[in-house]
Amino acid sequence: MKKLEITTPITIFDLVDELPNEVQMLMNEAVKIRKTAYAPYSKFHVGTAFLLENNEVITGNNQENAAYPSGMCAERVAVWQAASRFPNVKIKIIAITASSKENPVTKPVAPCGGCRQALSEYEIKQEEDIEIYFMGETGQIIKTDSLHDLLPLAFDKSFL
Ligand code: THU
Repeated sequence: MKKLEITTPITIFDLVDELPNEVQMLMNEAVKIRKTAYAPYSKFHVGTAFLLENNEVITGNNQENAAYPSGMCAERVAVWQAASRFPNVKIKIIAITASSKENPVTKPVAPCGGCRQALSEYEIKQEEDIEIYFMGETGQIIKTDSLHDLLPLAFDKSFL
């Protein structure tokens, strides 16, 4: 028997102003698109912006549905848009922000497990890490250096 430990390095920023300039720009785009999320059921609004290596910015927000499971998270709305419009262009950076009509969101909101799996597919495909920055409405911002840090031991094509 052998016991191993998997660690995830994270960087914590106290303010948006501390982020690199291009990430501040991306986070501003995420905040903008967050406002048009369609979230009448959860009242939880998520916005995301992706910077591609060709400098295109792809944005997305969550889209809910009266048949709840038919809705979709912001990250998957954006990653499938990026993958369909720019199939061979790498994703460099992802910025994510969330707010709620019920309570202020003051801590960083990490992408859900399903989104980590969906995003991980494209990080593996492009053979280059994607930086992920996530925040609430206010408060600290967390950065991880890659999807494989956020989703260790991922299911991937090697199992098929
Ligand atoms: N949501 C996202 O858009 N991204 C996540 O990573 C977590 C959750 C959305 C889905 C749903 O519309 C609302 O937030 C509440 O779960």
